Amino acid sequence: MANATWIRRHILSLADFLPVEYNTVLQTAASFREVLSRRTKKVPALQGHVVANLFFEPSTRTRSSFELAAKRLSADVLNFAPGTSSLSKGETILDTAKTYLAMGADIMVIRHREAGVPQAVASAMEEIGVQVGVFNAGDGQHEHPSQALLDLFTLCSVLDFENPRLELLKDKKIAIVGDILHSRVARSNIYSLIATGAEVHLAGPPTLVPKLFAEYFSTQSQTHGRAKEHATPLTPTNASSKQERLFVHWQIEPALEDADFVMTLRLQKERMTAHLLPSLREYHQLYGITSDRLKLCRGGVKILHPGPVNRGVEISSELMDDPELSLISQQVTSGVAVRMALLYLMGSGKVLNGHWS
Ligand code: NCD
Repeated sequence: MANATWIRRHILSLADFLPVEYNTVLQTAASFREVLSRRTKKVPALQGHVVANLFFEPSTRTRSSFELAAKRLSADVLNFAPGTSSLSKGETILDTAKTYLAMGADIMVIRHREAGVPQAVASAMEEIGVQVGVFNAGDGQHEHPSQALLDLFTLCSVLDFENPRLELLKDKKIAIVGDILHSRVARSNIYSLIATGAEVHLAGPPTLVPKLFAEYFSTQSQTHGRAKEHATPLTPTNASSKQERLFVHWQIEPALEDADFVMTLRLQKERMTAHLLPSLREYHQLYGITSDRLKLCRGGVKILHPGPVNRGVEISSELMDDPELSLISQQVTSGVAVRMALLYLMGSGKVLNGHWS
């Protein structure tokens, strides 16, 4: 890895992320986690760089996490809030981006309620020939790469804290439960978890487990490993080993059976345009993660949730706060180290070897 370079200028999706890139992010994040454990938690890695946080949609965790990560790397941070910006005077998103570019932004971290906005800004920047990097911090129902990468880092760190790497999750069973339809987190996680060689089991009510998945991956009667009895493997017509590791269930039990990790997702009421659920109470009864339901999983199972959580809906309040079972706080902590890694790689174009000295 000596003198290796990072060549991906924009991070917009994990669809084409390579195993070597995942492992570089995991190793770099581990180095920055070590920095964050020091008394002085700041390094001059991106001194003189400008990171613009362009969040056109509300956010607590992601925006603060990117801001702190950039500051820990000594970058200058510009924060944009749509309510108080010139957007309300009719400025387009692209003109907003160009304004930040004129102020010297090296990296733009973009969140928008519409899918494809970060991609459109990145293409526009390429067209005008500028070197700025664009990071997708969540676009509509499309993708949320940094959340999936911090989830991956959290999962791998449970298995080997010192040396988190993709291969650790091979053949693990990971259940993703809840509102898959509206979840950009689920989409990015499916790409990264499939890349590890894990078995990914999606579970939720038929109205929230996308028909798109069922259409894209034609169902076949093939069965796989532990999922044998209950799963519907979604195998594309031209079956590839990647997609054979993705299963859909409309009941929660087969997804939880023998699972090593359970990811729950928020019911994204703000994105629901139709009445897709009878009631939150009924949803909790059928799909909520509770201590009883966790008995179906492997011993040592851990639970994740990207937040914000609807307490008592997708997960019981008691489990959410259980330090043995819940990785929710670790996910937030991991987020800063992972975003430091991503900003560092994009900003410097260099791969870090070992600890930051
Ligand atoms: C997620 C998001 O915004 O997509 N949250 C996050 O970034 N931590 C998930 C959600 O809103 O439910």
